[in-house]
Amino acid sequence: MASSLAKVTLFITFLFCALSNHEAVAGSNSEDTPSLEDLRLLLKSQKLTRLNFYMHDLVLVSDPTSVRVAGVPGSNGNTTNFGDLYVLDDPLTTGPSLTSRAVGRAQGIYSFSSEDATALMMSINMIFTGDKYNGSTVAVIGRNDVLKKVRELPVVGGTGAFRLARGFLQISTAVLDSPTLSVVLNCSLYVLH
Ligand SMILES: *[C@@H]1O[C@H](CO)[C@@H](O)[C@H](O)[C@H]1NC(C)=O
Ligand SMILES: *[C@@H]1O[C@H](CO)[C@@H](O)[C@H](O)[C@H]1NC(C)=O
Ligand SMILES: *[C@@H]1O[C@H](CO)[C@@H](O)[C@H](O)[C@H]1NC(C)=O
Repeated sequence: MASSLAKVTLFITFLFCALSNHEAVAGSNSEDTPSLEDLRLLLKSQKLTRLNFYMHDLVLVSDPTSVRVAGVPGSNGNTTNFGDLYVLDDPLTTGPSLTSRAVGRAQGIYSFSSEDATALMMSINMIFTGDKYNGSTVAVIGRNDVLKKVRELPVVGGTGAFRLARGFLQISTAVLDSPTLSVVLNCSLYVLH
């Protein structure tokens, strides 16, 4: 009796695992409600994904993607723009040209947060729209020391395919247009999810 009960329990557990494992792999839609078991399986089947794309931050142009909402440049007598605050909704594309294939948007804010360096505090959500990551997001928050060749910002979480994400984003400047304060950033996103 006890042994047949154990067998049934084992079978049900096996069936449940098989089902929820399938669920965990397929169920990355932001609208589904995962069970704790789904999330445990998701944690066990973590993988590392690298995505490369370009981010277009265009300021003094007729159709800006980034706007200054507060601050007076140079008002502190330094050239670090300390205190300036921008809101951005930047296109993400596969290539450095704005007309290359769109793969998402970077939406959020950045502030010039250093008195003695040109360094930003960025807080952005990256919303992906391409193929298998359509609708999935990652949250990036960190320091962007813009004069450094390669800057690294932490990925603090994600949704959809990037649920339970951890990782980092490396950015470098691919194109700089000083008169319009516009840049194209070369982004490499590493996510464990
Ligand atoms: C300007 O930057 C220097 C460091 O380079 C700092 O010591 C000074 O306090 C800053 N001045 C103002 C007014 O923020
Ligand atoms: C992404 O999803 C939206 C709806 O959620 C859909 O309209 C769009 O066509 C999808 N894009 C791709 C590339 O699958
Ligand atoms: C962007 O960075 C990658 C390395 O991550 C490099 O292979 C590529 O050449 C860079 N693109 C540009 C336009 O600088």
